[in-house]
Amino acid sequence: MNAHAFEPLIVGFFCHYCAYASADLAGSMRLQYPPNIRIIRTPCTGRLEVDFYLRAFENGADGVLVAGCLEGGCHFIEGNLVAKRRVNQTRDLLAEIGIEKERLRMVNISAAMGRPLADIITDMIKTVRELGPNPLKSTSGNKKEQKDFVQI
Ligand code: FES
Repeated sequence: MNAHAFEPLIVGFFCHYCAYASADLAGSMRLQYPPNIRIIRTPCTGRLEVDFYLRAFENGADGVLVAGCLEGGCHFIEGNLVAKRRVNQTRDLLAEIGIEKERLRMVNISAAMGRPLADIITDMIKTVRELGPNPLKSTSGNKKEQKDFVQI
């Protein structure tokens, strides 16, 4: 294996009630997925603003995966629908500034979907690996900031 092969960093914003519980389940089931994702738990994906996604990319994420409850299953009624609109807005913004919109993805899963979640994470990492490094990362040149971000 090439020691300098690109290994993407994915930031995962997972809602507490479904997606994070599903990640827990995947761990309990000892399901394997690549270690390229850093999961941040949020009470609900509806809490996430467009700015959160843009800042993740600015601070060195190669991809962002947003995972919320199934549609109709959000514990805050419509939080995941709000999140879906904001993710789509952000994808359009990314495309406008020349960043592939595939770097940002939202999925809806239940707490019982440990295996599908592991597959989604694996697929997201594969997609971003094929896209290559986040172009903002190569222009920002501030490795210290990116390292700090990873440790959040
Ligand atoms: Fe899970 Fe709202 S509580 S997306």
